[in-house]
Amino acid sequence: MKRIVIEGGTPLRGIVHTSGAKNAVLPIIAASLLAQGEFTIYDTPWLADVETMCELLDSLGVSSDFQDNILRIDTANLQKTEAHYDCVRKMRASFLVMGPLLAKYGHAKISLPGGCAIGSRPIDLHLKGFEALGAKVTFGDGYIVAQAAKLKGNKIYLDFPSVGATENIMMAASLAEGHTVIENAAEEPEIVDLSNFLNAMGAKIKGAGTSVIRIEGVDSLSAIRHTVIPDRIEAGSFMVAAAITKSDVLITNIIDEHLKSVAAKLQDAGVNVDISYDGVRIQGTGEIYPVDLKTLPYPGFPTDMQAQFMALLTLARGTSIVTETVFENRFMHVPELRKMGADIRIEDRSAVISGVERLQGADVRSTDLRAGAALVIAGLAADGITRVSHIHHILRGYENFCEKLMALGAKVKMVDEP
Ligand code: UD1
Repeated sequence: MKRIVIEGGTPLRGIVHTSGAKNAVLPIIAASLLAQGEFTIYDTPWLADVETMCELLDSLGVSSDFQDNILRIDTANLQKTEAHYDCVRKMRASFLVMGPLLAKYGHAKISLPGGCAIGSRPIDLHLKGFEALGAKVTFGDGYIVAQAAKLKGNKIYLDFPSVGATENIMMAASLAEGHTVIENAAEEPEIVDLSNFLNAMGAKIKGAGTSVIRIEGVDSLSAIRHTVIPDRIEAGSFMVAAAITKSDVLITNIIDEHLKSVAAKLQDAGVNVDISYDGVRIQGTGEIYPVDLKTLPYPGFPTDMQAQFMALLTLARGTSIVTETVFENRFMHVPELRKMGADIRIEDRSAVISGVERLQGADVRSTDLRAGAALVIAGLAADGITRVSHIHHILRGYENFCEKLMALGAKVKMVDEP
């Protein structure tokens, strides 16, 4: 089993370059199914999730090639509109191929999605959207089938601003007949990147990045070249890693606007944050102050940064309260952080964190992607050795995580042990 082993207590120093955003590139790869031709996607991070998405495409007859962070996809020979359990179970974002397949080919049969075990994560909003666009949706043998000779635009109100549902409906509506309006849409930067990608393909989408997205369907879309936005969660994770180790680190390739909520909370915690267009410099000061925070859809504090920030707050001088409102079961890192000496109590959807003087290295288990990153971050500040197991979760979403930390001077290595 692969583990990440961290010898804590070394300050980080230097510059780290943020990779392209996982959560932007996955829907973009799915959106390539809306046209036939050759796509070139620059700044694609090479991650297990991207590999899974390319395997899924391959199972549909779509070829892809990855070199030097450039992903080439050729959709000309698509043969199937059916995504098997083997591909979809590994990653929930696989379900994003449903909208494009349905819109372009009139049929999609997708296994029920898997992914991180951070809550029940239903797909009802995606399906409600497809039905509103005129698709017939049926279930059987663990598969969902959606069919429609031609989708028709409609007004769709999302009960929750789901990122995936907004993306799936936006992609499907791009090739529907007439106008679609998505109300209470997710406003995440990755939605804007997808909208830019689709518009460059020939779609007519307005309002991405706000809560109302208007889409005028077009007859066809074309293959294009696109550069993926930087990964705000990776950048945020390095910001917290620098803060917890009281280090001086410059994180480049960022969009400052995307990091505002994390930067503000770090400043509240007493961390020096100098953010500009070129990068964000983090200088850890002496004390970490307690901070209360609540995860919310963008532009609120991202749920994908909750675990990492909690790791930081375990060492704050006082008590912090972290409330998770996006997912109902996203505190699985808490028992692991406790093994390292953290004092955390869970009360319903909140975690009450009483700061301790020191964390101690321990053998801990990564339970999901961001939880795994949080444990590595905690390990960087802990006394002694931390060994994080089940790191396949971390590899799903962080490109060269250990290498990047090592380049900053961290004593981190990946080992393969029985
Ligand atoms: C995306 C991100 C993930 C992030 C999440 C929230 C990708 C590939 N993943 O996941 O990293 O943590 O946004 O920012 O972009 N929900 C429903 N019904 C639905 C869909 C969602 O009830 O049909 C609920 C979910 O159970 C969850 C909440 O809505 O409680 C948010 O989910 P959603 O925004 O859809 O997250 P994902 O798109 O899966």
